[in-house]
Amino acid sequence: MKYAAITERLAGLGGAKWEVHARAKSLQAKGAPVIQLTIGEPDVATPPALIAEAKRAMDAGRLGYSNGRGEPALLAALAKRYSKRTGRSIGPDQFCCLPGTQTSLYAVLLTLTGPGDEVLVGDPLYATYEGLIAASGAEAVKVPLRPEHGFRMQAADVAARITPRTRVLFLNTPHNPTGAVLTAHDITALGALAIQHDLWIVSDEVYEELVFAGAHFVSPFDDPALADRTVVTASISKSHAAPGFRSGWCAGPAEFTARLLPVAETMLFGNQPFIADMTALGISAPSEVAQGMATRFARRAALIHAKLHGDNGLRVHRPEAGMFTVLDINATGLSGEAFANRLLDEEHVAVMPGESFGAALAGWVRISLTLDDALIEEACNRIARFAAHCMEKAA
Ligand SMILES: Cc1ncc(COP(=O)(O)O)c(C=O)c1O
Repeated sequence: MKYAAITERLAGLGGAKWEVHARAKSLQAKGAPVIQLTIGEPDVATPPALIAEAKRAMDAGRLGYSNGRGEPALLAALAKRYSKRTGRSIGPDQFCCLPGTQTSLYAVLLTLTGPGDEVLVGDPLYATYEGLIAASGAEAVKVPLRPEHGFRMQAADVAARITPRTRVLFLNTPHNPTGAVLTAHDITALGALAIQHDLWIVSDEVYEELVFAGAHFVSPFDDPALADRTVVTASISKSHAAPGFRSGWCAGPAEFTARLLPVAETMLFGNQPFIADMTALGISAPSEVAQGMATRFARRAALIHAKLHGDNGLRVHRPEAGMFTVLDINATGLSGEAFANRLLDEEHVAVMPGESFGAALAGWVRISLTLDDALIEEACNRIARFAAHCMEKAA
């Protein structure tokens, strides 16, 4: 049988990147004592008040169809939140509610770009971005994010890759997998290029609330000079420890959301009113759980740095936000993939190969910060032992 070209464009861009994670889960299911540091699930439960609100709304019959854009109460709560954040008056017509950041990005890219266009995106990058861009039919043009610049995207690297086909500058701040946070200076320099070349800026801000002490989150959407060309995506998955509810949104100029609406309606025709009620409650006040997560994740990142950095030539990057840290294992002579697979088999520690996040992270691995300190410490002991063993063999 024949299949659509999209299936070929996406082949290899989906589950294959998560193979070590899947293998770790199956080993765990067979009873192996695996320390699972692959994916980024929040380390706390969804706040009971939010679950109570979802239940209340279900009991109150909030189970009918919604509309394509989102429930009015949630749109109003989003408008209030982003008006406060930006200092401008942001209207409910500047949002569309979608099931998570992932779906929002899918709809956003379908609205902004397509075959023949180029999307500039950092490398390393979150594992689904290549698939998102390929699904739209556009081509991903990778902008290297370098450790010596704290993995923050540099305007000069972007400028060198802009062509007449460039349509979108795709940012992710705070960044997964590196935990880099773009500075006001970075945003101004990148924004100037977007203005000069008439580009859209798409800013994935799903980790906005998981910024560590000392770092400062800045969004291009908050800069009035960039607001008419910026689209933000976010959700309650990380900030409210609620990934399973699949509740997210995009924000942008009203003209953009008007264009996006038929795309969203075609995909879903509305999301769930009871989840919208819960989300509206969650985003109307500071998250009960985000600050605690940020504090714990920062502490664990520091712990990993203290345990592994410099040990036998290993280098640990210091994240400024998010749920992960990245470890340079080039000194072992192994690729990130070989390291992650052998570490799982030989020491029962599961980490993600850097290669799953782009060629720039070959020879690195990503470590999740979402387990208890004691388990992280034990994982570091095993990683150090395994790395030393590889280096002895190589010597
Ligand atoms: C950078 C980034 N964007 C988007 C997502 C997906 O988030 P959501 O659960 O809101 O779809 C993730 C999840 O890990 C992520 O790390």
